[in-house]
Amino acid sequence: RDYFLYHMTQAAPALFQGAILTVKITAFSVFFGCIIGLFLSFGQISKKKLFRIPAKIYVDTIRGTPLFVQILIFFYGIPDIYNTMMGEPLRWDRVLAAIIVCSINSGAYVSEIFRAGIQSIDKGQMEAARSLGMSHSKAMIYIILPQAFKRIVPPLGNEFIVLLKDTSLLAVIGVPELLQEGKLYVAATYVTFPIYIEVALIYLLMTLSISRWVSWMERRLGVSDRS
Ligand code: ARG
Repeated sequence: RDYFLYHMTQAAPALFQGAILTVKITAFSVFFGCIIGLFLSFGQISKKKLFRIPAKIYVDTIRGTPLFVQILIFFYGIPDIYNTMMGEPLRWDRVLAAIIVCSINSGAYVSEIFRAGIQSIDKGQMEAARSLGMSHSKAMIYIILPQAFKRIVPPLGNEFIVLLKDTSLLAVIGVPELLQEGKLYVAATYVTFPIYIEVALIYLLMTLSISRWVSWMERRLGVSDRS
C-alpha cells in the first residue's frame, strides 16, 4: 500500500540528516581512533614496560566492555560525578561527546589492527634494514610501516563499517543520528515497520559503499600481488 511509501518519503529528509551525522561521527571517530591507535600500538609492541602496560590496560579495558556501557558512563556517569564533586553541572555537547567516546573506543580496536599489521611483517625486513645501517625508527618509518599499511587497509575498512553501525547505540542518549531520527518519526506517528526498514536500508547503503571503496583501495594498493 502507498501508506508505506507515504511515510517513507515523509521521513526521508530527517533520516537523511541523521545519516549525514552518522557518517560525520564515524569519520571523525575513526580518524581520531587512528591517531590514538597509532600511539597505542607502538606502546603495545614497545620493549619498555612503562609504555607497554598502560597501552595493554587501555586496549583490554575498552575492548572488554561494551560500547553501550561506555556511552552510558560517558554521558550520565561522568557528568554526574562531576556535579557531585565540583558542585556545578557539566553540560557537554552531545555530538562532541559522542565523537569522544567513539574515538576512545575505536582507538583500542585500531591499535590492535596496527599492531597486527606491524607484527605481520617478517622480522628479516627489520634485520635487513638495520644491517644496512638504518636506525630502528628509520627502518620502522621507511621499511616496516609502508608494507604494514597495505595489510592494514582491509581491517581498517572493517572497523569503519563496524563503528558506523555501532553509532546507532548513540540513539539511547539522544544524539540525532540516523536511528534516533527514525525513532523520533516513529514516536510521532506510531508507524514502525516502513521506517525501521528504511533506516536499515540506509545503513546498508552506507556500509556497502564503504566496502566497495575499501576493495577499490585494496586493488589500487595491489594487496593481491604479494607473494
Ligand atoms: N559491538 C561491540 C561493543 O559493543 C564492539 C564495538 C565496536 N567498536 C569498534 N570500534 N570496532 O563493544
